[in-house]
Amino acid sequence: MTGGALLPVVLLVCLALAGGADAARKPVGFYELKNKKGDFSIKVTNWGATLASVFVPDCKGNVADVILGYDTIAEYVNGTQAFGSTVGRVANRIFKSRFVLDGKAYRLFPNDGNNSIHGGHRGFGKVIWTVKEYVSGGDSPYITFFYHSFDGEQGFPGDLDVYATYRLSSPYELSITMNATATTKATPVNFANHAYWNLAGHDSGDVLQQELQILASSYTPLDDTKIPTGQIEPVAGTIYDFLQPTPVGEHMDIVPGGGSGYDLNFVVNGEQDAFRQVARVEDPKSGRGMEVWANQPGVQLYTSNWVINEKGKNGKVYGQYGALCLETQAYPDAVNHPEFPSSIVRPGQVYKHDMAIKFYQDA
Ligand SMILES: *[C@@H]1O[C@H](CO)[C@@H](O)[C@H](O)[C@H]1NC(C)=O
Ligand SMILES: *[C@@H]1O[C@H](CO)[C@@H](O)[C@H](O)[C@H]1NC(C)=O
Ligand SMILES: *[C@@H]1O[C@H](CO)[C@@H](O)[C@H](O)[C@H]1NC(C)=O
Repeated sequence: MTGGALLPVVLLVCLALAGGADAARKPVGFYELKNKKGDFSIKVTNWGATLASVFVPDCKGNVADVILGYDTIAEYVNGTQAFGSTVGRVANRIFKSRFVLDGKAYRLFPNDGNNSIHGGHRGFGKVIWTVKEYVSGGDSPYITFFYHSFDGEQGFPGDLDVYATYRLSSPYELSITMNATATTKATPVNFANHAYWNLAGHDSGDVLQQELQILASSYTPLDDTKIPTGQIEPVAGTIYDFLQPTPVGEHMDIVPGGGSGYDLNFVVNGEQDAFRQVARVEDPKSGRGMEVWANQPGVQLYTSNWVINEKGKNGKVYGQYGALCLETQAYPDAVNHPEFPSSIVRPGQVYKHDMAIKFYQDA
């Protein structure tokens, strides 16, 4: 049953990227990790160090793929939703696509109105990573991706060596560990895994009845371009209070903002860099649930507001609220907010982002 020596199912794609000959020579493919029992597996690709599928059982043993995604690399290359990708160098938004660090002003690529989002138009979710290690089966299957980001890439300062590892462990745990080392200059760093979760299955419709708990007593309010104002407000008595398990759609009709859905950062309770539980989601019908753990100060809740008529896996067309993202992260625009926990990594320092998704089955 173990697949330790299996060859990766590599789909070779000729990518005519404007970006460069080096990238175009690396093979891009899908890789599978599977537990011994065969009822828990993931598919990933080195395009954007992307999580493409997560197959997990309910209590009756019915296995479903619980994230949105595409069938082909070409669709990931073309896609704009960041389905499952490892977002960087700085996930989330940076105000007016600029910041000052150590007295020097930097300009980024504006790709969200005047703001920059998810590292620019060719952030880490839109580049080819190298497969460093790959063990597809056994007790603890894993895959490690590497990316070298160069000084000035998408406007960011300094070289950055980046690793992302996906690992399965018993009984049904998926860990995602990311690290980055700045080698030449100080730089802001903030990675996020952008999986779109739907615990009833990626093809099951909306998640409005699924129960969400976010262990956050406060959140960072936004201006009308979705940049934090700098305030930190309690969730108590607001539509952002998910301290107790609450249906995702409970207050959906009154969420402010043009996209009419959640897209904001919560301040996770506990010590900001301690590895702790962040959130829990459960599909009441199947009993499939997951806990999200991480060592980050914040988590972005995004309810798939702008996924409308998006053709996904197996011909399924995804609609609004068809999933939710829980992107553990530094606070958005931290580089322009000295009052927020710092997102700056200096040469010799290491950025570490540890996540665990612990799946469970309720009867
Ligand atoms: C590329 O993405 C756009 C939406 O962003 C979609 O309308 C189009 O069909 C996609 N093309 C292919 C070939 O997938
Ligand atoms: C971008 O900034 C310019 C100049 O401040 C402003 O006129 C314009 O409305 C802004 N665009 C958006 C989409 O916010
Ligand atoms: C980053 O992760 C890689 C892969 O797991 C590991 O080999 C490396 O030692 C890590 N780097 C640091 C500085 O922790």
